[in-house]
Amino acid sequence: MPKLEPLFNPKSVAIVGVSVDPNKIGSVILRNMIDAGFAGDLLPINPKYTNVFGHECYPSLAQTGKQIDLAVISVPADKVLGVMQDAAQAKVKFAVIITAGFRETGAAGGDLEQQVLRIARSAGIRLLGPNCLGISVPGSSVNASFAATQALPGNVAFVSQSGAFNTALLDLALERNLGFSHFVSIGNKLDLSELDFLEDFYADPQVKVIGMYLEEFSDGNDLVSMIAQHPEKKVVILHPGESEQSKSAISSHTGSLAGSSRVIKTALRQAGAIQVETFEELFNVLWILEAGFKVTQNTVAVVTNAGGPGIMLTDMLVKAGIQVPKLSEQTQSELKQVLPPTASTHNPVDLVGDALAERYASAIDILEKDQSIGTIVVLVTPQLVTQVEDTAKLVYQHMIEGEKQIVPLFMGGEFVEPAIKRISSYNQPVFQYPEQLVSALGKLLDSKTPSVPNLILPIQGKYLAEVDAQTTTELKPLSQGLVYQMATEAGIDLPRQKLISTMDELMGFVGEVHYPVVLKARAEDILHKTDAKALYLNIHDVEELHAAFSELSTTLTNQNPGKPVQMIAQEQIGTGEELLIGVKRDGRKDVYLPTGRGFGHLILFGKGGIYTEIYKDLASVLVPATTRELTQLIAEPKVGQIIAGARGKAPLAQDKLIFLLESIQKLVLRYPQIAEIDINPAIITTDRCVAVDIKFLTQL
Ligand code: ACO
Repeated sequence: MPKLEPLFNPKSVAIVGVSVDPNKIGSVILRNMIDAGFAGDLLPINPKYTNVFGHECYPSLAQTGKQIDLAVISVPADKVLGVMQDAAQAKVKFAVIITAGFRETGAAGGDLEQQVLRIARSAGIRLLGPNCLGISVPGSSVNASFAATQALPGNVAFVSQSGAFNTALLDLALERNLGFSHFVSIGNKLDLSELDFLEDFYADPQVKVIGMYLEEFSDGNDLVSMIAQHPEKKVVILHPGESEQSKSAISSHTGSLAGSSRVIKTALRQAGAIQVETFEELFNVLWILEAGFKVTQNTVAVVTNAGGPGIMLTDMLVKAGIQVPKLSEQTQSELKQVLPPTASTHNPVDLVGDALAERYASAIDILEKDQSIGTIVVLVTPQLVTQVEDTAKLVYQHMIEGEKQIVPLFMGGEFVEPAIKRISSYNQPVFQYPEQLVSALGKLLDSKTPSVPNLILPIQGKYLAEVDAQTTTELKPLSQGLVYQMATEAGIDLPRQKLISTMDELMGFVGEVHYPVVLKARAEDILHKTDAKALYLNIHDVEELHAAFSELSTTLTNQNPGKPVQMIAQEQIGTGEELLIGVKRDGRKDVYLPTGRGFGHLILFGKGGIYTEIYKDLASVLVPATTRELTQLIAEPKVGQIIAGARGKAPLAQDKLIFLLESIQKLVLRYPQIAEIDINPAIITTDRCVAVDIKFLTQL
């Protein structure tokens, strides 16, 4: 039985805060429950009345004398604690708190919220909200929400952190005939979060696709691993908060803190979730998926009666990363046999302006057999002879019976309206604007097959005690000696190096490694070495060595007067490409433990050197990533082309780079205290990938 069964399918529902005033929110919820046709016990609660809207009204939950599966609370914030005490006494199973005025309003609201939670926990009551619209489960005739309309039954489960998003989506869904299995507003997520719902949605055969509007993720790491493990049901997520302005609005909306957009985008993509950017995309992608669209090969054939719009649509599809391939010889010759000589049998297939429904049918029949095509877009524009309704009918037939996925686009206004109405009345998606179709299809076809990498076992690192000793609540660099030991333990290729204080020690080192060498300051002394003139590369002879040593000694003494001078002498790595590898942790040190929250460590990769911040040519992947994902990561920024061997040059040691990235993954899983890693540069040559400059920063 699903964990949330009494919430989804309650036998009895109490509504606290109903009134004889039909416009009060409690009354609206009662009315919505009645209109939904709820067949169980409906128990209005208000000590002022004995009967409201024909239902017996009780003074309190405890005084109903009934087992209450679900209590919906719609009284002002200062009365919620009292109602919760009553709910505890009545042994209520689930409570939905509609009331606003908690964490989102500041510290006092936050305290009140925690008191509510304490009562719920000690009485074993699970909570939805507060600050929410409620819940609607059309299949069980439950509409415990104050939405203006009833959701149609269907197969989309939708969870939203904003009630207003629920109502807007619902309104549009009614117009387009899209139905829902569950429609949930989670508000401040004091107890139940998106994770609880997701778990039940995966287990419920009624749910075909899951949609979410989330301002903040209760535990990113848990969310993405759950999504990655269930590729059979697509999750479509709208997550705002890219701009600083919207991040601060999020905080005052539900009292949440927005995370880094790069981390979230990377994590969701890796897990195989579809991240949409607009309300329109959210709706359209859910609509297409609910109709049974499977994310298959990313190839589209366009069939149309409109030359110009066909060409424009092709451009738009290609721009959105969708392939519009050449049709096979076989397909083209079959098309030639049934189409007039003026038609074009390339892709887009132009049936020419006078195409009637039959011509569409013959072309679609042929295209359906072409194995290189994943989806057929049927584009219809309204010429005088166009059979809008007949074409809509046959397109619909192919949509439900045909072998290929078909997405119809009836471009125009009033004249194409009947086609739009007819196809959507059959619960199938249909578009009027090419922009909408392309953006939704682009999101769908771009979504990845999730990767579920073998989690590298969190073997404890050898230096855990030392790392712990240097880790505090403040973000701080680890000492270079320890960094070197940890990196060596993880198998990272490091340049041979030595900490030296005197010219004699330096000469001894050069005797071992030979020229050219590098001399530089330690990270803990100077962070940006080039800016502070604390890095001497390519030292070829003793004269240059003397000069570098004495200059650097002066710089260090000036920076840290009275402190004994120490610097790093290093072998100079041969010519290669300079790379940047960075790591940033989302969440705290306990992020990988069940108690932790956040997405974990994000690896950033791109061109290294002193201009990294100017180029901003970076790609990212979330730990743990598979070898395939690491290979894609390397190929994404422009420097990937150089590594692969650009302009006739030999390819560089990509296998060694992958090994380095895998070692970094091991390292952060062994030492989750690492909050940031900065390797700039790592130098990749034809046979090595060496972490020349490496810094670790830790934080609890
Ligand atoms: N038990 C039973 N009934 C009670 C109790 C109690 N302990 N205390 C008060 N009541 C009664 C009141 O007497 C009143 O009935 P009456 O009109 O007959 O006197 C009824 O409950 C409602 O109380 P009011 O004080 O009238 O409160 P009102 O209904 O105006 O507001 C509400 C309550 C809706 C919960 C309000 O405080 C609130 O939080 N509004 C915002 C809700 C919101 O926006 N939530 C997020 C939604 S998501 C979105 O963005 C769309």
